[in-house]
Amino acid sequence: MDDMLFDGVEITDDILMELAKELLPRSYAPYSNINVGAALLTKGGKVYFGCNVENSSYSATMCAERVAIYTAIAQGDTEFEAIAITGIKNGDVGEPFFPCGSCLQVMREFCDDDFKIIVEKGFENESYTLKELLPVGFSL
Ligand code: THU
Repeated sequence: MDDMLFDGVEITDDILMELAKELLPRSYAPYSNINVGAALLTKGGKVYFGCNVENSSYSATMCAERVAIYTAIAQGDTEFEAIAITGIKNGDVGEPFFPCGSCLQVMREFCDDDFKIIVEKGFENESYTLKELLPVGFSL
């Protein structure tokens, strides 16, 4: 998926989650077999995508959320509304995939307290604010 501009169309949580799922086949996860996809909505209505990209040197692995955020930054978009995160672990779909601490710290760098983080819970989506998942965070 290339980044997509939705002009005048409301991107609901459900739509953003469906878009995140489109990224799962691109996830490169031969070591953990955990596939993660993310769809990041900008305040201007554009959606950027990310998937996790693993490496044989494990620490070089990058999470789906940060791939999406860094892609957006590189394209000149810096204002974000929401991110939907989906994943498959051992073939199980629908388990909530919460962002890891490093991804939350990166969100803290670029997003407001009310930035919305959407995860799957069974067949439903649940959303949290960045403030809820990272009440306090490092900043300079
Ligand atoms: N992963 C993500 O993509 N996002 C997260 O927030 C947590 C973890 C990926 C990284 C790695 O490829 C796999 O999940 C197992 O940790």
